[in-house]
Amino acid sequence: MSDKNFCKDISSVAVHCGSQQNGEKAHLMPVYATSVFTFDSAEQGMNRFSGTEPGYIYSRFGNPTTTAAQKAVEALECFGLKNEDGADLQAKALLCASGQSAMATLFLSLLSAGDVVLSNSTIYGGTFEFFTEILPQYNIKTIFKDLSDLDGLGEILKKSPEIKIIHLETPANPTMGCTDIEAVCKIAAANAVKVSIDNTFATPYLQQPFKFGVDFIFHSTTKFLNGHGTAIGGVLLGKDVALMKTKINKTHKLLGGHGNPFDAFLLLNGIKTLAIRMEKHCSNAVEVANFLKDHASVAKVNFNGLKDHPGYEISKKQMRHPGAVLSFALKGGLEAGKTFINKLQMCTRAVSLGTLDTLVSHPASMSHAKMKPEDRLKAGIAEGLIRMSVGIEDADDITRDLEQALSGL
Ligand SMILES: Cc1ncc(COP(=O)(O)O)c(C=O)c1O
Repeated sequence: MSDKNFCKDISSVAVHCGSQQNGEKAHLMPVYATSVFTFDSAEQGMNRFSGTEPGYIYSRFGNPTTTAAQKAVEALECFGLKNEDGADLQAKALLCASGQSAMATLFLSLLSAGDVVLSNSTIYGGTFEFFTEILPQYNIKTIFKDLSDLDGLGEILKKSPEIKIIHLETPANPTMGCTDIEAVCKIAAANAVKVSIDNTFATPYLQQPFKFGVDFIFHSTTKFLNGHGTAIGGVLLGKDVALMKTKINKTHKLLGGHGNPFDAFLLLNGIKTLAIRMEKHCSNAVEVANFLKDHASVAKVNFNGLKDHPGYEISKKQMRHPGAVLSFALKGGLEAGKTFINKLQMCTRAVSLGTLDTLVSHPASMSHAKMKPEDRLKAGIAEGLIRMSVGIEDADDITRDLEQALSGL
């Protein structure tokens, strides 16, 4: 894009933000399928390594296609936002091999032995396992708290100066619990504690966490950002650009979890349709939630767009739409859930979310299977809970498929 401030709507930014200049003037950013970049002279090589001359060296350190994808996500997460001085907000993104790699890069960069993470109790199963099985090996503990209730949070932070970061996931996987991002950030800032958020479910189209004071954002780009289910990927962003370019970039380089150019190309092209996809995903999700909430076989629907959901007001405050992922419990429990999933004709039986087709999964036996049953229950994940990532098919076709799969349960 020649004038990055020309676009007045994030949908236009999504279409144009990956169009970086390249030597051949290719319309789309090409895939730079190369492990290494050449130097004109020994001096140039030395200068690039010392950082006195910009330029690529080795694709684990940086590559034009991955740079373009990083800049695209930076543009979306910062669109329309200002920093404390009233200037356009800047952030630095690092493209990662997966959402897990983005998450691990963040916590392994920031934390040392003796530090503590305070995490929302409902989070992605892989993040939970990282907090409970990997970080303790380095003497880093995690305290879990239901952050839909902020009572006592300030006192906990005051009493425990070893808490260095609060981690949020909102909406949270798979119960769609919502956390008031702004309220958490205010309490955290008053206690000099950083805040990170997994923004995978929302994407920057629905929710821009930097607006509410968050320090770090990560995504599994595998989901709505790529949008087509064609690659595993992740991205980590921080608004402390200097820290991102130094300590965090160093950890990223040394852990080796960089995003690859082909997946970056797929991500760049997926992002172009982010706005139009999210609009359709979200309007379909409203129809599906309304259909399910009135169905005789359904005990409960977790969807932030329903007035009786505890996240209704908070999601309205911080999200453009309540999202396109929902979960529901069947009156018949686990057995009814299995029968329902097996009877589906069009919706896809698969984990993950954010692809064009509607995906249906069973968190207790799939994404959250590694959690102890008592931890799952604490996080609101009943044995019979079904999760749906609502796709962009015709809404009536989705509800017809649900209707026939629910009949007789
Ligand atoms: C909310 C959320 N965060 C992070 C991840 C991990 O992402 P990835 O599988 O790309 O490593 C997932 C994966 O399902 C997820 O749902």
